[in-house]
Amino acid sequence: MMKKVLITGGAGFIGSHVVRRFVNQYPNYHVFNLDALTYAGNLENLTDVNGASNYNFVKGDITDAEFIQDLFAQHDFTYVIHLAAESHVDRSISNPIAFVMTNVVGTVNLLNAAKHHWVDKFEGKRFYHVSTDEVYGALGETGMFTESTKYDPHSPYSASKASSDHFVRAYHDTYGLPVVISNCSNNYGSHHFPEKLIPLAIHNIRNNKPIPVYGKGENVRDWLWVEDHARAIDVILHKGKNGETYNIGGHNEWKNIDLIHLLCKIMDKKLVRAEGSSAQLITFVKDRAGHDLRYAIDATKLKEELGWVPSLQFEEGLEKTVDWYLNNQSWLDHVTSGAYQSYYQDQYEKR
Ligand code: NAD
Ligand code: DAU
Repeated sequence: MMKKVLITGGAGFIGSHVVRRFVNQYPNYHVFNLDALTYAGNLENLTDVNGASNYNFVKGDITDAEFIQDLFAQHDFTYVIHLAAESHVDRSISNPIAFVMTNVVGTVNLLNAAKHHWVDKFEGKRFYHVSTDEVYGALGETGMFTESTKYDPHSPYSASKASSDHFVRAYHDTYGLPVVISNCSNNYGSHHFPEKLIPLAIHNIRNNKPIPVYGKGENVRDWLWVEDHARAIDVILHKGKNGETYNIGGHNEWKNIDLIHLLCKIMDKKLVRAEGSSAQLITFVKDRAGHDLRYAIDATKLKEELGWVPSLQFEEGLEKTVDWYLNNQSWLDHVTSGAYQSYYQDQYEKR
Protein backbone atom coordinates (compact mmCIF):
# COMPACT_ATOMS: atom_id res chain seq x y z
CA MET A 1 0.00 0.00 0.00
CA MET A 2 1.36 3.41 -0.97
CA LYS A 3 1.40 5.93 1.84
CA LYS A 4 -0.45 9.14 0.99
CA VAL A 5 1.32 12.33 2.07
CA LEU A 6 -0.45 15.69 2.07
CA ILE A 7 1.94 18.63 1.70
CA THR A 8 0.27 22.03 2.03
CA GLY A 9 1.86 25.12 0.47
CA GLY A 10 3.91 22.94 -1.86
CA ALA A 11 3.91 25.52 -4.66
CA GLY A 12 5.74 28.05 -2.48
CA PHE A 13 9.45 28.47 -1.78
CA ILE A 14 10.17 25.86 0.92
CA GLY A 15 7.16 23.71 0.08
CA SER A 16 8.39 23.16 -3.50
CA HIS A 17 11.71 21.86 -2.17
CA VAL A 18 9.88 19.55 0.25
CA VAL A 19 7.58 18.26 -2.52
CA ARG A 20 10.56 17.64 -4.84
CA ARG A 21 12.45 15.79 -2.10
CA PHE A 22 9.51 13.54 -1.17
CA VAL A 23 8.50 12.76 -4.77
CA ASN A 24 12.07 11.81 -5.67
CA GLN A 25 13.18 10.09 -2.45
CA TYR A 26 10.01 8.11 -1.75
CA PRO A 27 8.58 6.39 -4.83
CA ASN A 28 6.40 4.37 -2.40
CA TYR A 29 4.69 7.57 -1.19
CA HIS A 30 2.00 9.38 -3.15
CA VAL A 31 2.46 13.12 -2.65
CA PHE A 32 -0.55 15.43 -2.77
CA ASN A 33 0.41 19.10 -2.99
CA LEU A 34 -2.43 21.28 -1.73
CA ASP A 35 -1.96 24.95 -2.56
CA ALA A 36 -4.24 27.93 -3.18
CA LEU A 37 -1.71 29.47 -5.60
CA THR A 38 -1.69 32.88 -3.95
CA TYR A 39 0.79 35.46 -5.24
CA ALA A 40 3.51 33.32 -3.55
CA GLY A 41 2.47 29.98 -5.05
CA ASN A 42 3.86 29.09 -8.45
CA LEU A 43 3.61 25.79 -10.30
CA GLU A 44 6.70 26.81 -12.28
CA ASN A 45 8.56 25.89 -9.08
CA LEU A 46 7.70 22.25 -9.74
CA THR A 47 8.08 21.76 -13.50
CA ASP A 48 10.52 18.87 -12.87
CA VAL A 49 8.03 16.82 -10.79
CA ASN A 50 4.74 17.80 -12.44
CA GLY A 51 4.48 14.60 -14.51
CA ALA A 52 5.67 12.17 -11.81
CA SER A 53 3.36 9.18 -11.27
CA ASN A 54 3.50 9.53 -7.45
CA TYR A 55 2.50 13.22 -7.47
CA ASN A 56 -0.74 15.20 -7.71
CA PHE A 57 -1.44 18.89 -7.43
CA VAL A 58 -4.69 19.92 -5.73
CA LYS A 59 -5.75 23.55 -5.96
CA GLY A 60 -7.54 24.56 -2.78
CA ASP A 61 -7.67 26.95 0.12
CA ILE A 62 -7.01 25.77 3.68
CA THR A 63 -9.40 28.40 5.01
CA ASP A 64 -12.26 26.46 3.35
CA ALA A 65 -13.19 23.98 6.12
CA GLU A 66 -15.66 21.98 4.03
CA PHE A 67 -13.20 21.53 1.19
CA ILE A 68 -10.51 20.33 3.63
CA GLN A 69 -12.89 17.86 5.29
CA ASP A 70 -13.86 16.49 1.84
CA LEU A 71 -10.21 16.08 0.85
CA PHE A 72 -9.49 14.06 4.01
CA ALA A 73 -12.63 11.98 3.35
CA GLN A 74 -11.36 11.16 -0.15
CA HIS A 75 -7.82 10.25 0.89
CA ASP A 76 -6.53 8.38 3.90
CA PHE A 77 -3.42 10.49 4.43
CA THR A 78 -0.69 8.91 6.54
CA TYR A 79 1.25 12.14 6.92
CA VAL A 80 0.37 15.82 6.70
CA ILE A 81 3.28 18.25 6.27
CA HIS A 82 1.78 21.69 6.72
CA LEU A 83 3.66 24.60 5.19
CA ALA A 84 0.89 26.70 3.63
CA ALA A 85 1.01 30.17 5.13
CA GLU A 86 1.16 33.86 4.54
CA SER A 87 4.89 34.19 5.14
CA HIS A 88 6.05 37.79 4.67
CA VAL A 89 6.44 40.03 7.73
CA ASP A 90 6.02 43.30 5.78
CA ARG A 91 2.72 42.12 4.29
CA SER A 92 1.55 41.12 7.77
CA ILE A 93 2.11 44.70 8.91
CA SER A 94 -0.15 46.08 6.17
CA ASN A 95 -2.76 43.28 6.16
CA PRO A 96 -2.81 41.25 9.42
CA ILE A 97 -6.19 39.61 8.87
CA ALA A 98 -4.97 37.53 5.91
CA PHE A 99 -2.41 36.05 8.31
CA VAL A 100 -5.05 35.20 10.90
CA MET A 101 -7.17 33.51 8.24
CA THR A 102 -4.54 31.32 6.60
CA ASN A 103 -2.05 30.79 9.41
CA VAL A 104 -4.49 30.34 12.30
CA VAL A 105 -7.90 29.39 10.86
CA GLY A 106 -6.34 27.38 8.02
CA THR A 107 -4.19 25.41 10.46
CA VAL A 108 -7.15 24.70 12.73
CA ASN A 109 -9.18 23.49 9.72
CA LEU A 110 -6.43 20.99 8.92
CA LEU A 111 -6.18 19.89 12.55
CA ASN A 112 -9.96 19.37 12.68
CA ALA A 113 -9.90 17.30 9.50
CA ALA A 114 -7.04 15.13 10.78
CA LYS A 115 -8.76 14.67 14.15
CA HIS A 116 -12.07 13.79 12.48
CA HIS A 117 -10.77 11.39 9.84
CA TRP A 118 -7.96 9.78 11.82
CA VAL A 119 -10.09 9.20 14.89
CA ASP A 120 -9.26 5.89 16.60
CA LYS A 121 -6.61 5.31 13.92
CA PHE A 122 -3.82 7.59 15.14
CA GLU A 123 -1.24 4.77 15.00
CA GLY A 124 1.35 5.54 12.29
CA LYS A 125 -0.18 8.92 11.46
CA ARG A 126 1.62 12.22 11.85
CA PHE A 127 0.65 15.90 11.55
CA TYR A 128 3.84 17.91 10.94
CA HIS A 129 3.52 21.66 11.47
CA VAL A 130 6.26 23.77 9.89
CA SER A 131 6.89 26.90 11.94
CA THR A 132 9.40 29.66 12.41
CA ASP A 133 11.97 30.94 14.90
CA GLU A 134 10.17 34.31 14.87
CA VAL A 135 7.69 32.98 17.46
CA TYR A 136 10.46 33.33 20.06
CA GLY A 137 10.73 37.10 19.55
CA ALA A 138 14.04 38.92 19.32
CA LEU A 139 17.46 38.30 20.86
CA GLY A 140 19.94 40.93 22.02
CA GLU A 141 23.64 40.67 21.20
CA THR A 142 23.98 37.22 22.81
CA GLY A 143 22.05 34.00 23.42
CA MET A 144 20.17 31.58 21.18
CA PHE A 145 16.63 30.27 20.86
CA THR A 146 16.14 26.77 22.27
CA GLU A 147 12.98 24.68 22.19
CA SER A 148 12.13 25.91 25.70
CA THR A 149 12.50 29.65 24.95
CA LYS A 150 9.30 31.43 25.92
CA TYR A 151 7.14 32.60 22.99
CA ASP A 152 7.27 36.37 22.48
CA PRO A 153 6.14 37.20 18.93
CA HIS A 154 6.23 40.83 17.77
CA SER A 155 4.85 41.01 14.25
CA PRO A 156 1.36 40.00 13.11
CA TYR A 157 3.09 37.25 11.08
CA SER A 158 4.95 35.80 14.06
CA ALA A 159 1.88 36.21 16.31
CA SER A 160 -0.19 34.19 13.81
CA LYS A 161 2.48 31.48 13.57
CA ALA A 162 2.77 31.36 17.39
CA SER A 163 -0.99 30.98 17.62
CA SER A 164 -0.95 28.11 15.11
CA ASP A 165 1.84 26.37 17.07
CA HIS A 166 -0.28 26.63 20.23
CA PHE A 167 -3.28 25.10 18.45
CA VAL A 168 -1.16 22.21 17.18
CA ARG A 169 0.10 21.48 20.72
CA ALA A 170 -3.42 21.86 22.10
CA TYR A 171 -4.73 19.21 19.66
CA HIS A 172 -1.94 16.89 20.79
CA ASP A 173 -2.58 17.49 24.50
CA THR A 174 -6.38 17.49 24.29
CA TYR A 175 -7.20 14.92 21.62
CA GLY A 176 -3.96 12.94 21.42
CA LEU A 177 -3.39 13.97 17.79
CA PRO A 178 0.09 12.73 16.76
CA VAL A 179 1.93 15.97 15.96
CA VAL A 180 5.43 17.28 15.56
CA ILE A 181 6.53 20.91 15.17
CA SER A 182 9.72 22.47 13.88
CA ASN A 183 10.81 26.09 14.20
CA CYS A 184 13.32 27.10 11.57
CA SER A 185 15.50 30.13 10.93
CA ASN A 186 15.68 32.15 7.68
CA ASN A 187 15.93 30.01 4.57
CA TYR A 188 17.63 30.94 1.31
CA GLY A 189 18.02 29.21 -2.06
CA SER A 190 16.29 28.81 -5.41
CA HIS A 191 12.59 29.64 -6.05
CA HIS A 192 12.50 32.25 -3.23
CA PHE A 193 9.93 34.96 -3.97
CA PRO A 194 11.64 38.35 -4.50
CA GLU A 195 9.78 40.11 -1.70
CA LYS A 196 12.33 38.58 0.72
CA LEU A 197 15.74 40.17 1.25
CA ILE A 198 18.09 37.88 -0.72
CA PRO A 199 16.09 37.36 -3.94
CA LEU A 200 14.91 40.99 -3.88
CA ALA A 201 18.51 42.19 -3.69
CA ILE A 202 19.61 39.81 -6.47
CA HIS A 203 16.77 41.04 -8.69
CA ASN A 204 17.54 44.71 -8.01
CA ILE A 205 21.28 44.34 -8.52
CA ARG A 206 20.69 42.58 -11.82
CA ASN A 207 18.49 45.52 -12.89
CA ASN A 208 20.77 48.22 -11.45
CA LYS A 209 18.07 49.31 -8.99
CA PRO A 210 18.59 50.46 -5.39
CA ILE A 211 18.99 47.69 -2.77
CA PRO A 212 16.72 48.77 0.11
CA VAL A 213 18.33 48.04 3.49
CA TYR A 214 16.05 48.66 6.48
CA GLY A 215 17.39 50.95 9.21
CA LYS A 216 21.15 50.68 9.44
CA GLY A 217 21.32 47.07 8.30
CA GLU A 218 22.33 46.00 11.82
CA ASN A 219 19.68 43.29 12.22
CA VAL A 220 20.98 39.74 12.34
CA ARG A 221 19.44 36.64 10.75
CA ASP A 222 20.59 33.00 10.91
CA TRP A 223 20.53 31.69 7.31
CA LEU A 224 19.91 28.08 6.28
CA TRP A 225 20.08 26.49 2.81
CA VAL A 226 16.49 25.58 1.90
CA GLU A 227 17.42 22.03 0.86
CA ASP A 228 18.89 21.48 4.33
CA HIS A 229 15.53 22.55 5.77
CA ALA A 230 13.72 20.08 3.48
CA ARG A 231 16.10 17.32 4.64
CA ALA A 232 15.49 18.26 8.30
CA ILE A 233 11.73 18.01 7.70
CA ASP A 234 12.24 14.54 6.21
CA VAL A 235 14.32 13.43 9.23
CA ILE A 236 11.90 14.88 11.80
CA LEU A 237 8.82 13.45 10.07
CA HIS A 238 10.29 9.95 10.13
CA LYS A 239 12.35 9.96 13.32
CA GLY A 240 11.05 12.78 15.52
CA LYS A 241 9.16 11.99 18.71
CA ASN A 242 5.42 12.48 18.94
CA GLY A 243 4.44 15.80 20.54
CA GLU A 244 7.98 17.23 20.33
CA THR A 245 9.36 20.47 18.93
CA TYR A 246 12.67 20.69 17.06
CA ASN A 247 14.58 23.88 16.27
CA ILE A 248 16.28 23.99 12.87
CA GLY A 249 19.05 26.48 12.08
CA GLY A 250 22.24 27.00 10.17
CA HIS A 251 24.60 28.30 12.90
CA ASN A 252 25.13 31.02 10.36
CA GLU A 253 24.43 34.52 11.67
CA TRP A 254 24.84 37.51 9.39
CA LYS A 255 24.15 41.20 9.87
CA ASN A 256 21.98 42.26 6.94
CA ILE A 257 24.50 44.83 5.74
CA ASP A 258 27.37 42.30 5.77
CA LEU A 259 25.25 39.80 3.89
CA ILE A 260 24.38 42.41 1.27
CA HIS A 261 28.06 43.31 0.81
CA LEU A 262 28.89 39.62 0.28
CA LEU A 263 26.05 39.32 -2.22
CA CYS A 264 27.25 42.44 -4.07
CA LYS A 265 30.74 40.93 -4.33
CA ILE A 266 29.35 37.70 -5.79
CA MET A 267 27.09 39.62 -8.21
CA ASP A 268 29.98 41.83 -9.44
CA LYS A 269 31.90 38.68 -10.26
CA LYS A 270 28.97 36.89 -11.95
CA LEU A 271 27.84 39.93 -13.95
CA VAL A 272 31.44 40.82 -14.80
CA ARG A 273 31.06 44.28 -13.32
CA ALA A 274 33.80 46.40 -11.75
CA GLU A 275 34.40 45.43 -8.13
CA GLY A 276 32.32 47.66 -5.87
CA SER A 277 29.73 48.66 -8.47
CA SER A 278 26.83 46.61 -7.03
CA ALA A 279 27.54 47.94 -3.51
CA GLN A 280 26.90 51.46 -4.82
CA LEU A 281 23.23 50.44 -5.12
CA ILE A 282 22.87 49.97 -1.34
CA THR A 283 20.26 52.42 -0.04
CA PHE A 284 19.30 52.72 3.63
CA VAL A 285 15.53 53.14 3.98
CA LYS A 286 13.01 53.59 6.78
CA ASP A 287 13.14 50.66 9.20
CA ARG A 288 10.47 47.93 9.43
CA ALA A 289 8.02 48.61 12.28
CA GLY A 290 8.77 46.38 15.29
CA HIS A 291 11.88 45.04 13.53
CA ASP A 292 13.36 42.13 15.54
CA LEU A 293 17.06 42.77 16.15
CA ARG A 294 18.50 39.27 16.08
CA TYR A 295 17.52 35.63 15.58
CA ALA A 296 19.82 32.70 16.30
CA ILE A 297 18.84 29.05 16.60
CA ASP A 298 20.33 26.45 18.89
CA ALA A 299 19.76 23.24 16.90
CA THR A 300 21.56 20.94 19.36
CA LYS A 301 18.50 18.79 20.00
CA LEU A 302 18.07 18.01 16.30
CA LYS A 303 21.76 17.21 15.95
CA GLU A 304 22.06 15.06 19.07
CA GLU A 305 18.74 13.22 18.90
CA LEU A 306 18.26 12.85 15.14
CA GLY A 307 21.75 13.39 13.69
CA TRP A 308 20.86 16.31 11.39
CA VAL A 309 23.48 18.98 10.61
CA PRO A 310 23.51 21.60 7.83
CA SER A 311 25.43 20.49 4.73
CA LEU A 312 26.42 23.68 2.97
CA GLN A 313 28.69 26.64 3.79
CA PHE A 314 26.91 29.98 3.33
CA GLU A 315 29.29 31.48 0.73
CA GLU A 316 28.92 28.37 -1.43
CA GLY A 317 25.13 28.32 -0.99
CA LEU A 318 24.80 32.03 -1.80
CA GLU A 319 26.83 31.61 -4.96
CA LYS A 320 24.67 28.65 -6.02
CA THR A 321 21.59 30.77 -5.31
CA VAL A 322 22.87 33.67 -7.43
CA ASP A 323 23.67 31.21 -10.25
CA TRP A 324 20.13 29.82 -10.10
CA TYR A 325 18.56 33.29 -10.40
CA LEU A 326 20.85 34.34 -13.24
CA ASN A 327 20.14 31.09 -15.10
CA ASN A 328 16.38 31.37 -14.52
CA GLN A 329 15.70 34.95 -15.48
CA SER A 330 12.36 34.04 -17.05
CA TRP A 331 11.17 32.70 -13.63
CA LEU A 332 12.15 36.02 -12.05
CA ASP A 333 10.58 38.01 -14.91
CA HIS A 334 7.27 36.12 -14.55
CA VAL A 335 6.99 36.60 -10.78
CA THR A 336 7.96 40.26 -10.89
CA SER A 337 5.41 41.25 -13.52
CA GLY A 338 1.82 42.23 -12.68
CA ALA A 339 0.87 42.51 -9.01
CA TYR A 340 4.52 42.56 -7.87
CA GLN A 341 4.94 46.01 -9.41
CA SER A 342 2.21 47.61 -7.29
CA TYR A 343 3.40 45.72 -4.18
CA TYR A 344 6.91 47.10 -4.75
CA GLN A 345 5.63 50.64 -5.25
CA ASP A 346 3.53 50.56 -2.07
CA GLN A 347 6.30 48.98 -0.04
CA TYR A 348 9.34 50.90 -1.22
CA GLU A 349 8.61 53.94 -3.30
CA LYS A 350 6.82 55.78 -0.48
CA ARG A 351 9.37 54.67 2.12
P1 NAD B 1 5.83 31.07 0.67
O1 NAD B 1 5.11 32.34 0.94
O2 NAD B 1 6.91 31.04 -0.34
O3 NAD B 1 4.77 29.95 0.25
C1 NAD B 1 3.54 29.78 0.91
C2 NAD B 1 2.68 28.86 0.05
O4 NAD B 1 1.42 28.70 0.73
C3 NAD B 1 2.36 29.44 -1.33
O5 NAD B 1 2.52 28.44 -2.33
C4 NAD B 1 0.90 29.86 -1.23
O6 NAD B 1 0.19 29.79 -2.45
C5 NAD B 1 0.37 28.86 -0.21
N1 NAD B 1 -0.80 29.37 0.52
C6 NAD B 1 -0.94 30.59 1.11
N2 NAD B 1 -2.16 30.72 1.63
C7 NAD B 1 -2.81 29.55 1.37
C8 NAD B 1 -4.11 29.07 1.67
N3 NAD B 1 -5.00 29.83 2.33
N4 NAD B 1 -4.44 27.83 1.29
C9 NAD B 1 -3.56 27.05 0.61
N5 NAD B 1 -2.32 27.47 0.28
C10 NAD B 1 -1.96 28.70 0.66
O7 NAD B 1 6.34 30.58 2.10
P2 NAD B 1 7.70 29.84 2.50
O8 NAD B 1 8.75 30.85 2.72
O9 NAD B 1 7.94 28.72 1.57
O10 NAD B 1 7.28 29.27 3.93
C11 NAD B 1 6.63 28.01 4.05
C12 NAD B 1 6.39 27.73 5.52
O11 NAD B 1 7.61 27.71 6.23
C13 NAD B 1 5.52 28.78 6.21
O12 NAD B 1 4.66 28.10 7.10
C14 NAD B 1 6.52 29.65 6.97
O13 NAD B 1 5.92 30.19 8.10
C15 NAD B 1 7.57 28.63 7.31
N6 NAD B 1 8.95 29.16 7.47
C16 NAD B 1 9.51 29.91 6.48
C17 NAD B 1 10.84 30.34 6.61
C18 NAD B 1 11.52 31.14 5.54
O14 NAD B 1 12.66 31.59 5.75
N7 NAD B 1 10.92 31.37 4.38
C19 NAD B 1 11.57 29.99 7.76
C20 NAD B 1 10.93 29.23 8.76
C21 NAD B 1 9.64 28.81 8.59
O1 DAU C 1 13.22 33.65 10.62
C1 DAU C 1 12.37 32.92 9.79
C2 DAU C 1 11.55 33.89 8.95
O2 DAU C 1 12.43 34.43 7.99
C3 DAU C 1 10.36 33.22 8.27
O3 DAU C 1 9.47 32.75 9.25
C4 DAU C 1 9.64 34.22 7.35
O4 DAU C 1 8.60 33.57 6.66
C5 DAU C 1 10.65 34.75 6.36
O5 DAU C 1 10.05 35.71 5.53
C6 DAU C 1 11.87 35.36 7.08
O6 DAU C 1 11.49 36.56 7.79
P1 DAU C 1 12.42 37.87 7.79
O7 DAU C 1 11.57 39.03 8.09
O8 DAU C 1 13.64 37.64 8.61
O9 DAU C 1 12.88 37.85 6.23
P2 DAU C 1 13.04 39.02 5.16
O10 DAU C 1 13.75 38.43 3.98
O11 DAU C 1 11.79 39.76 4.93
O12 DAU C 1 14.06 40.01 5.88
C7 DAU C 1 15.35 39.59 6.28
C8 DAU C 1 16.02 40.78 6.95
O13 DAU C 1 16.28 41.78 5.97
C9 DAU C 1 15.16 41.44 8.00
O14 DAU C 1 16.00 41.90 9.05
C10 DAU C 1 14.53 42.63 7.27
C11 DAU C 1 15.60 43.00 6.27
N1 DAU C 1 15.13 43.55 4.98
C12 DAU C 1 14.13 42.89 4.32
C13 DAU C 1 13.68 43.35 3.11
C14 DAU C 1 12.56 42.62 2.39
C15 DAU C 1 15.71 44.69 4.44
O15 DAU C 1 16.64 45.27 5.04
N2 DAU C 1 15.25 45.14 3.25
C16 DAU C 1 14.24 44.53 2.56
O16 DAU C 1 13.85 45.03 1.47
